[in-house]
Amino acid sequence: MSIQSENVEKLVERRAKARLGGGPKRIEAQHAKGKKTARERLELLLDPGSFEEYDMFVQHRCTNFGMEKSHPDGDGVVTGCGTIDGRPVYVFAQDFTVSGGSLSKTMSEKICKVQDMALRNGAPCIGLNDSGGARIQEGIDALAGYGEIFERNILSSGVVPQISCIMGPCAGGAVYSPALTDFTLMVKNSSYMFLTGPAVVKSVTGEEVSQEDLGGASVHASKSGVAHFAADTEEEAIATVKELLGYLPQNNREDAPFKESADPVGRVEDALNSIVPDNPNKAYDMYAVIGAIVDEGRFLEIHKEFARNIIVGFARMGGRSVGIVANQPAVLAGVLDINASRKAARFVRFCDAFNIPLVTLVDVPGFLPGTQQEYGAIITNGAKLLYAYGEATVPKVTVTLRKGYGGAHIVMSCKQLRGDINYAWPSAQIAVMGADGAVNVLYAKEMKEDPQNAGALFDQKKKEYEELFSNPYQAAQKGYIDDIIEPRNTRFRVIRALDQLEKKQQEIPAKKHDNLPL
Ligand code: HXC
Repeated sequence: MSIQSENVEKLVERRAKARLGGGPKRIEAQHAKGKKTARERLELLLDPGSFEEYDMFVQHRCTNFGMEKSHPDGDGVVTGCGTIDGRPVYVFAQDFTVSGGSLSKTMSEKICKVQDMALRNGAPCIGLNDSGGARIQEGIDALAGYGEIFERNILSSGVVPQISCIMGPCAGGAVYSPALTDFTLMVKNSSYMFLTGPAVVKSVTGEEVSQEDLGGASVHASKSGVAHFAADTEEEAIATVKELLGYLPQNNREDAPFKESADPVGRVEDALNSIVPDNPNKAYDMYAVIGAIVDEGRFLEIHKEFARNIIVGFARMGGRSVGIVANQPAVLAGVLDINASRKAARFVRFCDAFNIPLVTLVDVPGFLPGTQQEYGAIITNGAKLLYAYGEATVPKVTVTLRKGYGGAHIVMSCKQLRGDINYAWPSAQIAVMGADGAVNVLYAKEMKEDPQNAGALFDQKKKEYEELFSNPYQAAQKGYIDDIIEPRNTRFRVIRALDQLEKKQQEIPAKKHDNLPL
Protein backbone atom coordinates (compact mmCIF):
# COMPACT_ATOMS: atom_id res chain seq x y z
CA MET A 1 0.00 0.00 0.00
CA SER A 2 1.35 3.43 -0.93
CA ILE A 3 1.88 6.07 1.73
CA GLN A 4 -0.99 8.05 0.23
CA SER A 5 -3.37 5.11 0.45
CA GLU A 6 -2.30 4.48 4.02
CA ASN A 7 -2.93 8.11 4.86
CA VAL A 8 -6.38 7.92 3.37
CA GLU A 9 -7.12 4.72 5.23
CA LYS A 10 -5.97 6.32 8.48
CA LEU A 11 -8.28 9.25 7.86
CA VAL A 12 -11.21 6.98 7.16
CA GLU A 13 -10.52 5.02 10.35
CA ARG A 14 -10.12 8.13 12.43
CA ARG A 15 -13.34 9.56 11.09
CA ALA A 16 -15.16 6.33 11.85
CA LYS A 17 -13.84 6.36 15.41
CA ALA A 18 -14.75 9.99 15.91
CA ARG A 19 -18.27 9.26 14.70
CA LEU A 20 -18.65 6.79 17.55
CA GLY A 21 -18.12 9.55 20.14
CA GLY A 22 -17.79 7.90 23.55
CA GLY A 23 -17.97 4.41 22.00
CA PRO A 24 -20.58 1.69 21.53
CA LYS A 25 -21.23 1.12 25.24
CA ARG A 26 -22.07 4.72 25.92
CA ILE A 27 -24.16 4.88 22.76
CA GLU A 28 -26.08 1.89 24.06
CA ALA A 29 -26.57 3.63 27.40
CA GLN A 30 -27.87 6.70 25.59
CA HIS A 31 -30.33 4.57 23.63
CA ALA A 32 -31.39 2.77 26.80
CA LYS A 33 -32.52 6.15 28.17
CA GLY A 34 -34.70 6.56 25.08
CA LYS A 35 -32.34 9.21 23.73
CA LYS A 36 -30.67 9.48 20.36
CA THR A 37 -27.02 10.32 19.83
CA ALA A 38 -25.91 13.72 18.59
CA ARG A 39 -25.31 12.37 15.09
CA GLU A 40 -28.63 10.56 14.92
CA ARG A 41 -30.35 13.79 15.84
CA LEU A 42 -28.50 15.75 13.18
CA GLU A 43 -29.43 13.11 10.63
CA LEU A 44 -33.08 13.69 11.44
CA LEU A 45 -32.70 17.45 11.37
CA LEU A 46 -30.75 18.06 8.18
CA ASP A 47 -31.48 17.29 4.54
CA PRO A 48 -29.91 13.93 3.63
CA GLY A 49 -26.29 14.26 2.63
CA SER A 50 -26.17 17.98 3.38
CA PHE A 51 -24.13 17.92 6.57
CA GLU A 52 -20.68 19.45 6.37
CA GLU A 53 -18.91 18.76 9.64
CA TYR A 54 -16.26 21.03 11.13
CA ASP A 55 -13.69 20.37 13.82
CA MET A 56 -14.12 16.62 13.94
CA PHE A 57 -10.55 16.25 15.19
CA VAL A 58 -10.62 18.89 17.87
CA GLN A 59 -9.50 17.55 21.25
CA HIS A 60 -9.64 19.01 24.71
CA ARG A 61 -6.46 20.44 26.26
CA CYS A 62 -7.22 19.65 29.89
CA THR A 63 -4.58 17.94 32.01
CA ASN A 64 -6.37 17.88 35.37
CA PHE A 65 -7.87 14.86 37.13
CA GLY A 66 -6.60 12.31 34.64
CA MET A 67 -8.12 14.05 31.61
CA GLU A 68 -4.74 13.90 29.87
CA LYS A 69 -5.26 10.13 29.46
CA SER A 70 -8.12 10.42 27.04
CA HIS A 71 -8.52 12.68 24.03
CA PRO A 72 -11.64 11.74 22.08
CA ASP A 73 -11.81 13.36 18.66
CA GLY A 74 -14.53 15.98 18.47
CA ASP A 75 -14.64 16.53 22.25
CA GLY A 76 -18.31 15.97 22.94
CA VAL A 77 -19.97 18.14 20.35
CA VAL A 78 -20.73 17.70 16.67
CA THR A 79 -20.74 20.98 14.77
CA GLY A 80 -21.15 22.11 11.21
CA CYS A 81 -23.43 23.35 8.49
CA GLY A 82 -26.21 21.69 6.54
CA THR A 83 -29.51 22.48 4.93
CA ILE A 84 -33.12 22.16 6.00
CA ASP A 85 -35.56 22.26 3.08
CA GLY A 86 -32.61 23.40 1.00
CA ARG A 87 -31.85 26.43 3.20
CA PRO A 88 -28.50 26.62 5.01
CA VAL A 89 -28.35 26.35 8.80
CA TYR A 90 -25.49 26.10 11.27
CA VAL A 91 -25.77 23.46 13.95
CA PHE A 92 -24.15 22.07 17.05
CA ALA A 93 -25.24 18.91 18.81
CA GLN A 94 -23.77 18.03 22.18
CA ASP A 95 -22.73 14.40 22.49
CA PHE A 96 -23.61 13.04 25.91
CA THR A 97 -21.54 9.91 25.27
CA VAL A 98 -18.35 11.98 25.66
CA SER A 99 -17.92 13.23 29.25
CA GLY A 100 -21.67 13.65 29.51
CA GLY A 101 -21.61 16.33 26.80
CA SER A 102 -19.98 18.60 29.38
CA LEU A 103 -18.66 21.87 28.06
CA SER A 104 -14.90 22.20 27.80
CA LYS A 105 -13.04 25.23 26.52
CA THR A 106 -12.46 23.48 23.19
CA MET A 107 -16.12 22.50 22.92
CA SER A 108 -17.05 26.12 23.42
CA GLU A 109 -14.60 27.10 20.68
CA LYS A 110 -16.31 24.66 18.31
CA ILE A 111 -19.73 26.06 19.18
CA CYS A 112 -18.53 29.65 18.89
CA LYS A 113 -17.14 28.88 15.44
CA VAL A 114 -20.54 27.87 14.08
CA GLN A 115 -22.21 30.76 15.87
CA ASP A 116 -19.76 33.15 14.19
CA MET A 117 -20.31 31.53 10.81
CA ALA A 118 -24.09 31.69 11.18
CA LEU A 119 -23.90 35.39 11.98
CA ARG A 120 -21.41 36.16 9.22
CA ASN A 121 -23.24 34.16 6.57
CA GLY A 122 -26.76 35.13 7.60
CA ALA A 123 -28.17 31.72 8.46
CA PRO A 124 -30.04 30.36 11.50
CA CYS A 125 -28.09 28.67 14.29
CA ILE A 126 -29.60 25.60 15.91
CA GLY A 127 -28.28 23.98 19.07
CA LEU A 128 -29.19 20.47 20.21
CA ASN A 129 -28.34 20.52 23.91
CA ASP A 130 -27.56 17.41 25.94
CA SER A 131 -24.92 18.24 28.51
CA GLY A 132 -23.89 17.84 32.13
CA GLY A 133 -22.87 21.52 32.11
CA ALA A 134 -19.45 23.04 32.61
CA ARG A 135 -16.72 20.37 32.45
CA ILE A 136 -15.80 20.18 36.08
CA GLN A 137 -12.15 19.24 35.47
CA GLU A 138 -11.58 22.46 33.49
CA GLY A 139 -12.76 24.95 36.09
CA ILE A 140 -12.78 28.56 34.94
CA ASP A 141 -11.84 27.62 31.37
CA ALA A 142 -15.20 25.91 30.96
CA LEU A 143 -17.04 28.83 32.55
CA ALA A 144 -15.24 31.24 30.23
CA GLY A 145 -16.40 29.05 27.35
CA TYR A 146 -20.00 29.64 28.35
CA GLY A 147 -19.34 33.36 28.49
CA GLU A 148 -18.06 33.26 24.91
CA ILE A 149 -21.18 31.42 23.76
CA PHE A 150 -23.52 33.81 25.59
CA GLU A 151 -21.84 36.83 24.03
CA ARG A 152 -22.41 35.37 20.57
CA ASN A 153 -26.03 34.57 21.44
CA ILE A 154 -26.44 38.23 22.31
CA LEU A 155 -24.69 39.59 19.22
CA SER A 156 -26.69 37.24 16.98
CA SER A 157 -30.00 38.17 18.59
CA GLY A 158 -32.21 39.91 16.08
CA VAL A 159 -29.77 39.17 13.22
CA VAL A 160 -30.17 35.43 12.65
CA PRO A 161 -32.80 33.15 14.19
CA GLN A 162 -31.40 31.08 17.06
CA ILE A 163 -33.13 27.90 18.19
CA SER A 164 -32.31 25.68 21.17
CA CYS A 165 -33.57 22.14 21.39
CA ILE A 166 -33.03 20.67 24.86
CA MET A 167 -32.74 16.91 24.62
CA GLY A 168 -31.13 16.01 27.94
CA PRO A 169 -29.77 17.79 30.99
CA CYS A 170 -29.27 21.54 30.88
CA ALA A 171 -28.40 22.86 34.30
CA GLY A 172 -26.66 25.68 36.10
CA GLY A 173 -25.61 28.73 34.14
CA ALA A 174 -25.76 26.61 30.99
CA VAL A 175 -29.48 27.34 30.82
CA TYR A 176 -28.72 30.91 29.87
CA SER A 177 -27.65 30.16 26.34
CA PRO A 178 -31.09 28.72 25.44
CA ALA A 179 -32.70 31.58 27.34
CA LEU A 180 -30.85 34.04 25.13
CA THR A 181 -32.00 32.34 21.93
CA ASP A 182 -35.31 32.96 20.17
CA PHE A 183 -37.04 29.62 20.67
CA THR A 184 -36.47 26.81 23.15
CA LEU A 185 -37.89 23.34 22.61
CA MET A 186 -37.81 20.59 25.20
CA VAL A 187 -38.54 16.87 25.11
CA LYS A 188 -40.91 15.54 27.76
CA ASN A 189 -39.46 13.15 30.35
CA SER A 190 -35.91 13.25 28.99
CA SER A 191 -34.86 16.88 29.22
CA TYR A 192 -34.75 19.34 32.04
CA MET A 193 -33.54 22.86 32.70
CA PHE A 194 -32.84 24.40 36.08
CA LEU A 195 -30.32 26.62 37.77
CA THR A 196 -29.95 24.29 40.75
CA GLY A 197 -31.03 20.66 40.86
CA PRO A 198 -33.35 18.94 43.35
CA ALA A 199 -30.54 18.16 45.85
CA VAL A 200 -29.46 21.78 46.15
CA VAL A 201 -33.08 22.92 46.33
CA LYS A 202 -33.63 20.54 49.25
CA SER A 203 -30.53 21.65 51.11
CA VAL A 204 -31.26 25.36 50.69
CA THR A 205 -35.04 25.57 51.04
CA GLY A 206 -36.03 22.14 52.38
CA GLU A 207 -38.37 21.71 49.44
CA GLU A 208 -38.53 18.21 47.97
CA VAL A 209 -39.10 18.17 44.26
CA SER A 210 -38.35 15.80 41.41
CA GLN A 211 -36.21 16.73 38.44
CA GLU A 212 -39.29 16.65 36.19
CA ASP A 213 -41.38 18.81 38.51
CA LEU A 214 -38.57 21.29 38.98
CA GLY A 215 -37.49 21.79 35.39
CA GLY A 216 -39.09 19.27 33.06
CA ALA A 217 -40.53 20.15 29.68
CA SER A 218 -44.13 20.38 30.88
CA VAL A 219 -43.19 22.74 33.70
CA HIS A 220 -41.28 25.10 31.45
CA ALA A 221 -43.85 24.96 28.67
CA SER A 222 -46.81 25.68 30.95
CA LYS A 223 -45.64 27.42 34.13
CA SER A 224 -42.46 29.37 33.56
CA GLY A 225 -42.70 29.96 29.81
CA VAL A 226 -38.97 29.17 29.49
CA ALA A 227 -39.80 26.57 26.81
CA HIS A 228 -41.81 27.51 23.75
CA PHE A 229 -42.55 23.90 22.84
CA ALA A 230 -42.74 20.63 24.79
CA ALA A 231 -42.49 17.67 22.44
CA ASP A 232 -43.44 14.10 23.28
CA THR A 233 -40.43 12.68 21.47
CA GLU A 234 -37.11 13.79 20.02
CA GLU A 235 -38.52 13.18 16.54
CA GLU A 236 -41.40 15.54 17.26
CA ALA A 237 -39.06 18.21 18.61
CA ILE A 238 -36.91 18.06 15.49
CA ALA A 239 -39.93 18.10 13.19
CA THR A 240 -41.13 21.21 15.03
CA VAL A 241 -37.77 22.93 14.53
CA LYS A 242 -38.08 22.32 10.79
CA GLU A 243 -41.66 23.52 10.65
CA LEU A 244 -40.76 26.63 12.63
CA LEU A 245 -37.88 27.49 10.31
CA GLY A 246 -40.28 27.36 7.36
CA TYR A 247 -41.96 30.51 8.68
CA LEU A 248 -38.73 32.41 9.33
CA PRO A 249 -36.32 34.33 7.12
CA GLN A 250 -32.67 33.33 7.11
CA ASN A 251 -31.71 36.61 8.73
CA ASN A 252 -32.99 40.11 9.51
CA ARG A 253 -32.16 41.42 6.04
CA GLU A 254 -34.43 38.97 4.27
CA ASP A 255 -38.13 38.17 4.16
CA ALA A 256 -39.56 34.84 5.23
CA PRO A 257 -40.08 32.41 2.34
CA PHE A 258 -43.28 32.84 0.36
CA LYS A 259 -45.23 29.63 -0.07
CA GLU A 260 -47.86 29.45 -2.79
CA SER A 261 -51.13 28.16 -1.40
CA ALA A 262 -54.09 26.49 -3.07
CA ASP A 263 -56.32 28.15 -0.48
CA PRO A 264 -58.16 30.98 -2.29
CA VAL A 265 -57.35 34.44 -0.99
CA GLY A 266 -61.01 35.39 -1.42
CA ARG A 267 -62.32 32.42 0.58
CA VAL A 268 -65.42 33.55 2.47
CA GLU A 269 -66.12 31.96 5.87
CA ASP A 270 -69.83 32.39 6.58
CA ALA A 271 -69.49 30.79 10.01
CA LEU A 272 -67.52 33.80 11.24
CA ASN A 273 -70.61 36.03 10.86
CA SER A 274 -72.20 34.24 13.79
CA ILE A 275 -69.23 33.10 15.86
CA VAL A 276 -69.46 35.90 18.42
CA PRO A 277 -72.21 35.05 20.95
CA ASP A 278 -74.97 37.60 21.61
CA ASN A 279 -74.15 37.56 25.29
CA PRO A 280 -70.91 39.56 25.72
CA ASN A 281 -70.00 37.44 28.73
CA LYS A 282 -70.08 34.22 26.75
CA ALA A 283 -66.89 32.77 25.39
CA TYR A 284 -66.05 31.48 21.93
CA ASP A 285 -62.90 29.85 20.67
CA MET A 286 -60.36 32.13 19.02
CA TYR A 287 -58.66 29.11 17.46
CA ALA A 288 -61.73 28.72 15.24
CA VAL A 289 -61.25 32.26 13.96
CA ILE A 290 -57.53 31.78 13.33
CA GLY A 291 -58.15 28.45 11.59
CA ALA A 292 -60.76 30.06 9.38
CA ILE A 293 -58.64 32.92 8.11
CA VAL A 294 -55.13 31.49 7.60
CA ASP A 295 -53.93 29.45 4.62
CA GLU A 296 -55.27 25.89 4.82
CA GLY A 297 -56.07 26.43 8.50
CA ARG A 298 -52.44 25.75 9.40
CA PHE A 299 -51.15 27.44 12.50
CA LEU A 300 -47.91 26.77 14.37
CA GLU A 301 -48.61 27.85 17.90
CA ILE A 302 -45.80 29.10 20.12
CA HIS A 303 -46.16 28.79 23.90
CA LYS A 304 -49.31 26.73 23.48
CA GLU A 305 -49.62 25.77 27.16
CA PHE A 306 -48.31 28.98 28.68
CA ALA A 307 -50.58 32.00 29.33
CA ARG A 308 -53.36 30.46 27.31
CA ASN A 309 -55.43 33.64 27.56
CA ILE A 310 -53.40 34.92 24.64
CA ILE A 311 -52.49 32.98 21.51
CA VAL A 312 -49.35 33.60 19.47
CA GLY A 313 -47.89 31.72 16.55
CA PHE A 314 -47.05 31.60 12.88
CA ALA A 315 -49.28 31.00 9.90
CA ARG A 316 -49.41 31.99 6.26
CA MET A 317 -51.91 34.33 4.70
CA GLY A 318 -51.95 34.47 0.91
CA GLY A 319 -48.62 32.58 1.01
CA ARG A 320 -46.93 35.16 3.22
CA SER A 321 -45.60 34.26 6.67
CA VAL A 322 -47.39 36.20 9.42
CA GLY A 323 -47.22 36.35 13.19
CA ILE A 324 -50.65 36.01 14.76
CA VAL A 325 -51.41 37.49 18.17
CA ALA A 326 -54.94 36.90 19.47
CA ASN A 327 -56.71 37.22 22.77
CA GLN A 328 -58.46 34.00 23.73
CA PRO A 329 -61.93 34.71 25.17
CA ALA A 330 -62.26 31.03 26.10
CA VAL A 331 -59.50 31.33 28.75
CA LEU A 332 -59.88 33.87 31.57
CA ALA A 333 -62.13 35.82 29.18
CA GLY A 334 -59.00 36.77 27.20
CA VAL A 335 -57.79 39.12 29.93
CA LEU A 336 -54.22 40.43 29.76
CA ASP A 337 -52.09 39.45 32.73
CA ILE A 338 -48.36 39.40 33.42
CA ASN A 339 -47.62 36.16 31.60
CA ALA A 340 -49.82 36.95 28.60
CA SER A 341 -48.14 40.34 28.24
CA ARG A 342 -44.64 38.85 28.45
CA LYS A 343 -45.49 36.06 26.04
CA ALA A 344 -47.00 38.33 23.41
CA ALA A 345 -44.37 41.05 23.79
CA ARG A 346 -41.52 38.67 23.10
CA PHE A 347 -43.33 37.26 20.09
CA VAL A 348 -44.12 40.70 18.66
CA ARG A 349 -40.47 41.71 19.06
CA PHE A 350 -39.29 38.54 17.34
CA CYS A 351 -41.60 39.15 14.39
CA ASP A 352 -40.54 42.77 14.14
CA ALA A 353 -36.84 41.86 14.26
CA PHE A 354 -37.31 39.35 11.43
CA ASN A 355 -39.65 41.25 9.10
CA ILE A 356 -42.70 39.11 9.76
CA PRO A 357 -45.97 41.10 9.55
CA LEU A 358 -48.25 41.03 12.56
CA VAL A 359 -51.93 40.16 12.44
CA THR A 360 -53.67 40.92 15.73
CA LEU A 361 -57.13 39.66 16.65
CA VAL A 362 -58.57 41.55 19.59
CA ASP A 363 -61.17 40.53 22.12
CA VAL A 364 -59.87 41.78 25.44
CA PRO A 365 -61.82 42.86 28.51
CA GLY A 366 -58.79 44.61 30.03
CA PHE A 367 -55.90 43.87 32.35
CA LEU A 368 -56.37 41.42 35.20
CA PRO A 369 -56.90 43.34 38.46
CA GLY A 370 -55.61 42.36 41.91
CA THR A 371 -52.70 42.41 44.29
CA GLN A 372 -51.06 39.36 42.78
CA GLN A 373 -50.80 41.11 39.44
CA GLU A 374 -49.83 44.50 40.87
CA TYR A 375 -47.15 43.01 43.14
CA GLY A 376 -45.85 41.02 40.20
CA ALA A 377 -45.46 44.28 38.25
CA ILE A 378 -48.28 44.06 35.74
CA ILE A 379 -47.48 47.71 35.09
CA THR A 380 -43.98 46.93 33.87
CA ASN A 381 -44.99 43.71 32.16
CA GLY A 382 -48.03 45.17 30.44
CA ALA A 383 -45.78 48.00 29.27
CA LYS A 384 -43.61 45.41 27.51
CA LEU A 385 -46.42 44.55 25.14
CA LEU A 386 -47.32 48.19 24.66
CA TYR A 387 -43.70 48.92 23.93
CA ALA A 388 -43.30 46.00 21.56
CA TYR A 389 -46.27 47.01 19.43
CA GLY A 390 -45.42 50.70 19.50
CA GLU A 391 -41.85 50.03 18.46
CA ALA A 392 -42.63 47.48 15.73
CA THR A 393 -42.23 48.75 12.19
CA VAL A 394 -43.40 45.64 10.34
CA PRO A 395 -46.87 45.78 8.73
CA LYS A 396 -49.48 45.62 11.48
CA VAL A 397 -53.05 44.64 10.66
CA THR A 398 -55.50 44.48 13.54
CA VAL A 399 -59.07 43.25 13.75
CA THR A 400 -61.20 43.95 16.82
CA LEU A 401 -63.74 41.15 17.03
CA ARG A 402 -65.55 42.08 20.20
CA LYS A 403 -64.18 43.75 23.32
CA GLY A 404 -61.48 46.33 23.16
CA TYR A 405 -61.67 47.82 26.61
CA GLY A 406 -59.47 50.30 28.39
CA GLY A 407 -55.69 50.22 28.28
CA ALA A 408 -55.86 46.75 26.81
CA HIS A 409 -57.48 48.18 23.66
CA ILE A 410 -54.57 50.57 23.28
CA VAL A 411 -51.96 47.88 23.98
CA MET A 412 -53.35 45.49 21.38
CA SER A 413 -51.88 47.24 18.34
CA CYS A 414 -54.22 50.22 18.16
CA LYS A 415 -53.86 52.94 15.51
CA GLN A 416 -52.01 55.26 17.87
CA LEU A 417 -49.27 52.66 18.33
CA ARG A 418 -48.67 52.95 14.60
CA GLY A 419 -51.13 50.22 13.70
CA ASP A 420 -51.33 50.31 9.89
CA ILE A 421 -54.79 48.97 9.15
CA ASN A 422 -57.28 48.51 11.96
CA TYR A 423 -60.55 46.80 11.22
CA ALA A 424 -63.47 46.01 13.48
CA TRP A 425 -66.28 43.50 13.22
CA PRO A 426 -69.82 44.86 13.74
CA SER A 427 -69.75 43.10 17.15
CA ALA A 428 -66.83 45.25 18.33
CA GLN A 429 -67.15 47.30 21.51
CA ILE A 430 -64.39 49.83 21.90
CA ALA A 431 -64.67 51.71 25.18
CA VAL A 432 -62.94 52.60 28.42
CA MET A 433 -64.67 49.67 30.13
CA GLY A 434 -67.72 47.38 29.94
CA ALA A 435 -71.21 48.81 30.49
CA ASP A 436 -71.77 47.42 34.01
CA GLY A 437 -68.52 48.78 35.37
CA ALA A 438 -68.98 52.13 33.69
CA VAL A 439 -72.49 52.74 35.08
CA ASN A 440 -71.39 51.68 38.56
CA VAL A 441 -68.65 54.28 38.48
CA LEU A 442 -70.60 57.10 36.85
CA TYR A 443 -73.85 56.71 38.84
CA ALA A 444 -72.60 55.34 42.16
CA LYS A 445 -73.69 58.44 44.05
CA GLU A 446 -77.18 58.60 42.50
CA MET A 447 -77.81 54.90 43.08
CA LYS A 448 -76.67 55.15 46.69
CA GLU A 449 -78.86 58.19 47.37
CA ASP A 450 -81.95 56.59 45.86
CA PRO A 451 -81.64 52.84 46.44
CA GLN A 452 -85.27 52.20 45.50
CA ASN A 453 -84.76 53.45 41.96
CA ALA A 454 -81.17 52.29 41.69
CA GLY A 455 -82.06 49.23 39.59
CA ALA A 456 -84.07 51.20 37.06
CA LEU A 457 -81.43 53.92 36.82
CA PHE A 458 -78.75 51.29 36.32
CA ASP A 459 -80.69 49.62 33.52
CA GLN A 460 -81.42 52.88 31.77
CA LYS A 461 -77.85 54.17 31.93
CA LYS A 462 -76.47 50.79 30.89
CA LYS A 463 -78.68 50.87 27.82
CA GLU A 464 -77.48 54.37 26.97
CA TYR A 465 -73.86 53.34 27.43
CA GLU A 466 -74.30 50.25 25.30
CA GLU A 467 -75.94 52.22 22.52
CA LEU A 468 -73.00 54.60 22.53
CA PHE A 469 -70.11 52.20 22.91
CA SER A 470 -71.24 48.60 22.36
CA ASN A 471 -70.61 48.89 18.66
CA PRO A 472 -67.69 49.98 16.52
CA TYR A 473 -69.34 53.04 14.97
CA GLN A 474 -68.10 55.68 17.40
CA ALA A 475 -64.52 54.51 16.87
CA ALA A 476 -65.11 54.38 13.10
CA GLN A 477 -66.63 57.87 13.04
CA LYS A 478 -63.44 59.23 14.54
CA GLY A 479 -61.10 57.25 12.33
CA TYR A 480 -59.74 55.19 15.22
CA ILE A 481 -60.49 52.16 13.12
CA ASP A 482 -60.20 52.18 9.35
CA ASP A 483 -63.22 50.10 8.43
CA ILE A 484 -65.94 47.89 9.80
CA ILE A 485 -65.82 44.58 7.97
CA GLU A 486 -68.08 41.60 7.63
CA PRO A 487 -66.52 38.82 9.70
CA ARG A 488 -66.81 36.32 6.86
CA ASN A 489 -64.55 38.51 4.68
CA THR A 490 -61.79 38.78 7.26
CA ARG A 491 -59.32 36.54 5.43
CA PHE A 492 -59.61 38.47 2.21
CA ARG A 493 -59.48 41.89 3.88
CA VAL A 494 -56.43 41.06 5.99
CA ILE A 495 -54.53 39.60 3.03
CA ARG A 496 -55.38 42.61 0.89
CA ALA A 497 -54.17 44.91 3.66
CA LEU A 498 -50.93 42.95 3.92
CA ASP A 499 -50.48 43.22 0.13
CA GLN A 500 -50.88 46.98 0.36
CA LEU A 501 -48.35 47.15 3.17
CA GLU A 502 -45.74 45.02 1.47
CA LYS A 503 -43.35 47.89 0.81
CA LYS A 504 -44.01 49.67 4.09
CA GLN A 505 -41.08 51.63 5.45
CA GLN A 506 -41.06 53.14 8.89
CA GLU A 507 -38.24 54.32 11.10
CA ILE A 508 -37.59 54.74 14.76
CA PRO A 509 -35.41 57.62 15.96
CA ALA A 510 -31.67 56.89 15.99
CA LYS A 511 -30.52 55.60 19.34
CA LYS A 512 -27.85 53.31 20.80
CA HIS A 513 -30.59 50.93 21.83
CA ASP A 514 -33.96 51.25 23.43
CA ASN A 515 -34.71 50.92 27.10
CA LEU A 516 -37.78 48.77 27.04
CA PRO A 517 -39.37 48.09 30.44
CA LEU A 518 -37.60 44.87 31.39
C1 HXC B 1 -17.39 16.49 33.63
C2 HXC B 1 -19.22 15.14 33.54
C3 HXC B 1 -20.06 16.23 33.86
C4 HXC B 1 -19.45 17.51 34.06
C5 HXC B 1 -21.28 14.50 33.64
N1 HXC B 1 -20.03 14.10 33.41
N2 HXC B 1 -21.32 15.80 33.92
N3 HXC B 1 -17.91 15.29 33.42
N4 HXC B 1 -18.11 17.57 33.92
N5 HXC B 1 -20.17 18.59 34.32
C6 HXC B 1 -19.57 12.78 33.07
C7 HXC B 1 -19.73 11.79 34.21
O1 HXC B 1 -18.63 11.85 35.07
C8 HXC B 1 -19.79 10.48 33.46
O2 HXC B 1 -18.48 10.14 33.08
C9 HXC B 1 -20.51 10.84 32.18
O3 HXC B 1 -20.38 12.26 32.06
C10 HXC B 1 -21.99 10.52 32.23
O4 HXC B 1 -22.51 11.04 33.42
P1 HXC B 1 -23.41 10.17 34.42
O5 HXC B 1 -23.41 10.89 35.71
O6 HXC B 1 -22.93 8.77 34.41
O7 HXC B 1 -24.80 10.22 33.68
P2 HXC B 1 -26.24 10.35 34.32
O8 HXC B 1 -26.40 9.37 35.42
O9 HXC B 1 -27.18 10.30 33.18
O10 HXC B 1 -26.29 11.81 34.98
C11 HXC B 1 -26.16 12.94 34.18
C12 HXC B 1 -26.03 14.22 35.05
C13 HXC B 1 -24.86 14.01 36.07
C14 HXC B 1 -27.33 14.42 35.81
C15 HXC B 1 -25.81 15.36 34.12
O11 HXC B 1 -23.72 13.55 35.37
C16 HXC B 1 -24.53 15.28 36.78
O12 HXC B 1 -25.19 15.65 37.76
N6 HXC B 1 -23.47 15.96 36.34
C17 HXC B 1 -23.04 17.18 36.96
C18 HXC B 1 -23.97 18.28 36.59
C19 HXC B 1 -23.52 19.62 37.10
O13 HXC B 1 -23.67 19.91 38.27
N7 HXC B 1 -22.89 20.39 36.21
C20 HXC B 1 -22.40 21.67 36.54
C21 HXC B 1 -23.59 22.61 36.34
S1 HXC B 1 -23.13 24.25 36.66
P3 HXC B 1 -18.00 8.62 33.03
O14 HXC B 1 -16.61 8.72 32.51
O15 HXC B 1 -18.08 8.10 34.42
O16 HXC B 1 -18.94 7.92 32.09
C22 HXC B 1 -22.60 24.81 35.20
C23 HXC B 1 -22.10 26.19 35.24
C24 HXC B 1 -22.26 26.87 33.92
O17 HXC B 1 -22.62 24.17 34.24
C25 HXC B 1 -21.96 28.30 34.14
C26 HXC B 1 -22.20 29.13 32.92
C27 HXC B 1 -22.00 30.56 33.21
